[in-house]
Parts: sequence; structure tokens; C-alpha cells
Amino acid sequence: MRPIKHIGILTGGGDCPGLNSVIRAITKTAVLKYGVEVIGFMDGFRGLVENNYVQLDLRRVSGIGHTGGTILGTSNRDNPFNFMTMIQGELQSTDQSDRAVSNIKHLDLDGLIIIGGDGSLNIAYKFFSEKGINVVGVPKTIDNDLSATDITFGFITAVNTASDALDKLHTTAESHHRVMILEVMGRYAGWIALYAGMSGSADVILIPEIPYNLDAIISKIAQRFRQGKKFSIIVVAEGAHPAGGDMVVQKLVATSHDPVRLGGIGQQVAEEVSSRLTDIETRVTVLGHLQRGGGPTPYDRILATRYGVAAVETFMEGKYGSMVSLQGNKITTVDLQEAIKEIRKVPVDSKLIEAARSIGVTFGDY
Ligand code: F6P
Repeated sequence: MRPIKHIGILTGGGDCPGLNSVIRAITKTAVLKYGVEVIGFMDGFRGLVENNYVQLDLRRVSGIGHTGGTILGTSNRDNPFNFMTMIQGELQSTDQSDRAVSNIKHLDLDGLIIIGGDGSLNIAYKFFSEKGINVVGVPKTIDNDLSATDITFGFITAVNTASDALDKLHTTAESHHRVMILEVMGRYAGWIALYAGMSGSADVILIPEIPYNLDAIISKIAQRFRQGKKFSIIVVAEGAHPAGGDMVVQKLVATSHDPVRLGGIGQQVAEEVSSRLTDIETRVTVLGHLQRGGGPTPYDRILATRYGVAAVETFMEGKYGSMVSLQGNKITTVDLQEAIKEIRKVPVDSKLIEAARSIGVTFGDY
């Protein structure tokens, strides 16, 4: 085996607090510990296809560990295997994966470390399994929906933001005797809603894993009223839906490898609640990208740094086709193919849900 000299990295999918901490940790470990050069492709997989990259050295990654976003840019639209290109005035899908491979060879890279969620890691796996590229994955997403790792970096920061929003919504809820609804992100999993709802003392938490009945929500609000609590706080995950009903899709983005843009369930729940409780004012806040913005919490900075260091170690050990993962308090590696098999949803019999029910939280099912 030839000695490893150059590694390419990229950040793919939605931005996420902690990306810069990973970039910093990878670069520092590679340079300081192994004398390996790192280059970063710009704007996710687009940079790989278009050969748009920057040299990452100690100076370039200095002072970025606490910052939000990604110094490399990212995209959740560009898939080299299904790359949208303007051909004669029309957007058409073409396979640009060989162009990406030829860039990797031309730059004499020994392989790639790909930092991304399930979409990007699926593409990473295709490069490994179909194109023979040495790949190591790092699990990123505020949604915390990757199986094979206990937690993804960025999640705790998003929960902090949502929990803080709930604290603030409590003020108006209580002062004005209102029902305040907070819609949070999370795609098809309810992790952010569950954790933020628990932390922010929500009365009702609606998650995709537990379809809701309006009656259960109304009866909770009414019960609180009878007890003299003239306000209620509802957290609703963007993927939540009524029993027998569908998720609310804000938009379909055909050019994206994540074409379904969720959003709007908060408003739907507000209208449903208002139609039944006409005396109580109900308001909605959609937290949106605030959950992805800003610097990572100390927990996420440390987790992201540990992932970055471990990704380089894994690469240097030649364990390609794997993803670094947190299991308990230990960083380990898992098979990338296994890691992308299915997304991780909240188990409906989880201890956290049980604890929430014990303190009177309603999930809308009864
Ligand atoms: O996966 C992260 C996430 O923020 C989801 O929670 C959300 O559904 C999606 O990305 C939004 O993506 P975009 O910023 O492309 O609309």
C-alpha cells in the first residue's frame, strides 16, 4: 500500500453547527500528526465535480472551531451521479461521477472524508462501492436521524435553540393566556421536538412517530384550563401528522436529492385547535433555519472535534467504507453501508417518551 499523502474533504447537505469544528479537527490531525495534506472541495459535491477546491492548512482552519456554517460551503442539491446541468436552456440530469473520480486522481488524492447526513453518505457509499474511492464518513445533521450512531453533531445545538425559543414563548403564552405552537425541524424524525419539548416544558409534543388525534390535544388544553393554567405550549415536529392524515409538504424541489420540503403543520394544528377552542387565542412560531444557525454548543464542538480526529485515524488505518460513530461515550467506526440502510426514528416505547408521559405530556395519541 502506498503511503497516504493527500486527503480531500467536503461538507454535504444542509449546514449544521459543528461543521467547522470537524474541518478544523481533520486538518489539524492530518497535518500535525501525520504530515498529510488536506484539500477541501467547495459547496459539497459540486466542488468535486467542478474541481473547485481550497488547500486547508493550519492557518486556514485557525479560529473557526466555534463558528457556525461551513467554510467550505455546502449544497443539498448536487449529486454527481445525478447531476443537474443546463443543456440547451433546459435542466437535465447527467452522471458526472467519472468526472469527479478523474479530479480525485488528477489531484493525487488517497481518498475522501465526507461529512454529511444520509443523502451525502449515500453518495459517499456509491463512490466507495461503485468507483473504488477510499471513503470515510462523518455523521452530521441537526435531525439526529442517522442510525449506527447515538448522536450526530449539530443536534444538541438545534435542541438548545428550540428549547430557548420555548422558554421565550412561555412568557407570551402565560401573559396573554394563549396556546403557543412551535414548529421545529427534524424531517421524518421527532428527535428535536422530543428533546426540546422535554427541556422546554411543553404540554403537548407532536412527532412523526406518533400520529395525533385532535381530541387528545383539545382535552389536554381544556384540562389545563380547568386547573387554572390558562395557557399551553405545543411543540410540533415538521414531519408530524394526524392519524390517518399526511405530512404537510411546503414544496417539492425536483432538482434536490432531498426533494420534499416539509413545513406548515404548525399552522394546520393552530387552525384545528382554534376551530374547536374559539375562546382561546392560538399562535404559531416556525423556528426554521435558526435551528441550523450560529455557533455549536460546547458539547457539539467537542463531539465534532472527536469525530474529525477519529475520521483521520480511520482513514490512516485504511478502514475505508466506514463511518465514525458515537456509541455510549466511545467513538468507534461502523460499516457505511449499514449506517445508511435506514433513518433512525424515535422509538415509540423509548424511555424519554415514557418519562414525558409520566409528567403529563401529551403526544396527541390519547
Ligand atoms: O436535514 C436538516 C434539515 O434542516 C431538516 O430538518 C429540514 O427538513 C431540511 O434540512 C430543510 O432543508 P432546506 O434548508 O434545504 O430547506
